[in-house]
Amino acid sequence: MSEARNNYKLRDEIKDYWSLRAEKFDLSAGHEIFTQSERDAWYQLITEHIGAGKGRKALDLASGTGVISHLLFDLGFQTTGLDWSETMLAKAREKSEIRKSDIKFIIGDAENTMQPLGTFEVITMRHLVWTLVDPKAAMQHWFDLLQSGGKLLIVDGNFKQADWRRKLIKMVASLFSMFEGKDRHGRDAQMMKTHNHILQRVYFNQGVTSVAVVEMLTDIGFKDISVQTDLSTIHRAQAKGLGFFKFLDRSVQHRFAISASKP
Ligand SMILES: C[S@@+](CC[C@H](N)C(=O)[O-])C[C@H]1O[C@@H](n2cnc3c(N)ncnc32)[C@H](O)[C@@H]1O
Repeated sequence: MSEARNNYKLRDEIKDYWSLRAEKFDLSAGHEIFTQSERDAWYQLITEHIGAGKGRKALDLASGTGVISHLLFDLGFQTTGLDWSETMLAKAREKSEIRKSDIKFIIGDAENTMQPLGTFEVITMRHLVWTLVDPKAAMQHWFDLLQSGGKLLIVDGNFKQADWRRKLIKMVASLFSMFEGKDRHGRDAQMMKTHNHILQRVYFNQGVTSVAVVEMLTDIGFKDISVQTDLSTIHRAQAKGLGFFKFLDRSVQHRFAISASKP
């Protein structure tokens, strides 16, 4: 079987996996935002990295149910959300109607968006990079989509990281029956199996790190790269919804926000 065919199958599997997750996606703390303190923490992170909206044209890639797209809208960006899952997009559009936000939600592949090149002033994404099939080509595409002076913001984490601290937290948590049957996102055994099957075959199958992302962005020609690995303000704001062990786990995980500019 050719490489292209293999990739096609993997992409389909990722898309189907997220489509199945759409229904319950917003129920999890860490996905949807449930408190003003968390919302404020996100506003601060976004503004510090890419500045105020001021009507700038933003593309939120892998927008899912539109959580980040709505933050961008609130901050005054002219926002388009792009995702390849119809069910995720349906949720995002529902929310947009309720919140009366005029975000445009469109279907597409974040690795090859089919959007006009050189037209966006800002590109954002949360929790996309770790499942990219061809991240270097994707980042080159984002570079091409941006106007000169445009900004990229990547928020992600190493979900494969299995150091002793995470192992210990998981072990103690399981003693308290926190991870029984379903995991913290409400995924059943089959969903977790699919998740692991996908994770074994994506580019960052050992987990994505800020160092690896910065290396790729630098190679492509991005400048003014800024890396933030302390997301504790956001995690503290999420703590109540996450519960003690999940909060603890998140606190030791390598999570990061990286912004960069197109010269
Ligand atoms: C973990 S969710 C994150 C959603 C949203 N960014 C957030 O943080 O709330 C991942 C989303 O990425 C989408 N996705 C993954 N790979 C994609 C791709 N290549 N193109 C478009 N969407 C993609 C999935 O459909 C899913 O909605």
